[in-house]
Amino acid sequence: MTVKQYTREEISKWDTKKENVFIIDNVVYNVTEFLDEHPGGHEVLVNLAGKDASEDFDDVGHSLDAKELMKKYVVGELVEADRVQVQKRHVAWEDSKVEGDTGFTSSWKFPVLLGIVVTVLYSYLFG
Ligand code: HEM
Repeated sequence: MTVKQYTREEISKWDTKKENVFIIDNVVYNVTEFLDEHPGGHEVLVNLAGKDASEDFDDVGHSLDAKELMKKYVVGELVEADRVQVQKRHVAWEDSKVEGDTGFTSSWKFPVLLGIVVTVLYSYLFG
């Protein structure tokens, strides 16, 4: 399935009185039908019509449910030339998770395993 491609210019010239479209992370959404259902209100979405709403969307810290729900309103994506690199802010905690984990020998597992091996060996040899 090919997704319809839009330029940023097309989005900014959209007739936002009729339809509410905006961009979040290079994906184009049409939320006209969703305006009155949005738990965060009609107004915030209307103000962002025709714009790139990535930061505003992210600042709110939308739930996973909200991110699932958005998929319903996808109408296309930006043409390659107009895309920006999507920042990995949604998964920032995953990056920090890796930090500080410098391998097996520095984790708690190594000394524990070493202790078990020494105990078993000791009792085998001298027990
Ligand atoms: C397709 C796009 C969007 C969808 C499907 C969506 C959906 C939702 C949902 C389900 C909630 C309830 C709380 C949660 O589950 O996180 C919510 C809250 C909210 N949303 Fe959105 N949203 C969208 C775009 C936006 C944008 C672009 C803004 C811009 C600022 C925004 C601002 C807010 C605010 C202020 C709240 C209220 C947060 C609160 O009361 O704690 N939303 N949205």
